[in-house]
Order: sequence, then C-alpha cells, then structure tokens
Amino acid sequence: MKKDLLTLNDLTKEDFDALFARALELKERHKRGIFDKVLAGKSVGLIFDKPSTRTRISFEAATIQLAGTPIFMAAAHTQISRNEPVKDTARVLSRYIDCLVLRTFSQELIEEYARECSIPVINALSDSYHPCQILSDLLTVVEAKGGYENVHVAWIGDGNNVAHSWINAAAILGFKLTLACPDGYTPDSGILEKALAKKTGEIRVVTDPVDAVKGADIVYTDVWASMGQESEADERLAPFRNYQVDAALLKHAKPDVSVMHCLPAHRGEEITEDVMEGPHSIIWDQAENKLHMHKAILEALILKK
Ligand code: CP
Ligand code: NVA
Repeated sequence: MKKDLLTLNDLTKEDFDALFARALELKERHKRGIFDKVLAGKSVGLIFDKPSTRTRISFEAATIQLAGTPIFMAAAHTQISRNEPVKDTARVLSRYIDCLVLRTFSQELIEEYARECSIPVINALSDSYHPCQILSDLLTVVEAKGGYENVHVAWIGDGNNVAHSWINAAAILGFKLTLACPDGYTPDSGILEKALAKKTGEIRVVTDPVDAVKGADIVYTDVWASMGQESEADERLAPFRNYQVDAALLKHAKPDVSVMHCLPAHRGEEITEDVMEGPHSIIWDQAENKLHMHKAILEALILKK
C-alpha cells in the first residue's frame, strides 16, 4: 500500500528515527561528494499554490541529486486552473509520475489528492500543517543537541501551521514543548487536545514568552502573519509586540540555547537581526537540512522503505 505524508501523525516514532538516521547518512555522503542514484527513472511532481524558496528548491535538488526528475507544475499552465476536478488530475498524474509534492491552502485539498492518487502525496505546507519542516528541524535538533528526548523546545509567536506540526511531533516523540502565543492566536484546540490525549510529551500553551523559554534548549519562532494572512499583518503587530525573539528573551533560556526559524523571516518583527546572525542561531543549518531530509522522505515513500 502507498504511504502519504500529510501530517506527522502519519509517522510512528520508529519512522522518525529511521528518517533521521537516513538523512544523516545522506548528508554525510553528500559532503563526501557521493550521490546515490536511488531515484533513477523516478519522477517527482510539484504543485505549489503558495510561494516557496526552500521547500520547492530543496525537493527539486533532492530529486535531481538522487538521479530522479522533478516536474514543477505551475497551476496556471495546467488544467487545474480551468477547474478540472481533483480526482481526474490525481488519477492522470498517478499514471505519469511516482510522487506528488503539494503546497496549498487547505489541508482538505491535500487529503483529497492523497485519496485520489495511487502515488504517495507529500504535504509541503498547508494552512494547517508543515510536516516536512519539522522533520528537517528535528534533524537539526538531533545534530545540535545529540538527540530530541530530553530537549525543551519553546515556540514563541503565532499558533500556526508550523506550531501545529511541532505539537504533533512532541506528542509522538515525547519531548517537552512550550508554546507562548498571544490571546486569540493560540494553536487549534482540536489539534492540541488530540496531542494532549496521547499523554506522551509535556505540551503547554502559555501567554508569557519568558515563562516559555525558561530552561529551553531551543527557541523557535516564525512570522506573525503567514502566507494567506497578509491582510492581517498590520493588525497583528500590536498583539505580537512582546513576542519578539531578542537577546533579552534568550537570557532566560539555557546558556547554550539554539535559535531556530523556518524562514522566511521578518527581521525586526518576530526576531532581531542580532539574534538571527548571532552565535545561538542554527537557522542556516536548519535550512540546509531540508535538502537532506527531503531526500530521506522521497526515498522512503517512493521506494516504500
Ligand atoms: N521554510 C519554508 O517552508 O520555506 P519556503 O516557504 O521558502 O519553502
Ligand atoms: N507559517 C509560515 C511558514 C512559512 C514556511 C507560513 O505559512 O507562511
């Protein structure tokens, strides 16, 4: 049976560990200039209804480096733009390509593609989740901290798609996650309740960023207005003002705290320039790891590993 990656709940703890191990192996081989041709003869289709630099290019580069062929489909140049039904598009694409990487607004649309496709479907970000992001982020945590088990991650800012995938990950892997969000911008209560019901990790939502970062190993932030929320950007500035990750906030975390951001960042809003460029930032390693993790994901799903 084909396997999709629609949310992190599609994975077990063993799946996470296998992906981390393989991504680290692929990264080490990449550094030595060794590129395994594991996707030779395979094609990966990409449909992106929202902009992307990192996710799209790293999926395309990952496919090419594994000897596969990426096919980017600009929606405007396909019959999708003329409202061909999803099930027709999905069935036809499944006859041509070996995997579909999809970034769009609604999670339900990605799930519909997954139901109608006979090939694996990968969620490359929806309004609700960003599972691939958190897989490569956790790979970066494993490298920086030697593992994820005893790590305390503090999320500062909007209870958004990236936060939701962090919540899913904490519930599966059991690490400590504290989210500091302004009132009215907390994570989806259904996603949170399902995660808390698993009783694995220690997941807390607070309003005070200082409370959240106390003793944190990782301080993570993201934009205050996500793609699709641009019209709310101005009205969000006031409620989010105290949620900036700056040097003063980091003083409350562990001395060796690492700072992460999925990017793109708005310097001077959710994070200061000095923190982004400072010694605690592992943001660029984090961005790099999308390449290595996406290789491991593609290999696992396409070759059913
Ligand atoms: N972090 C991330 O998904 O970046 P892009 O929007 O550039 O893909
Ligand atoms: N929360 C952000 C993440 C971008 C990678 C957004 O959805 O725009």
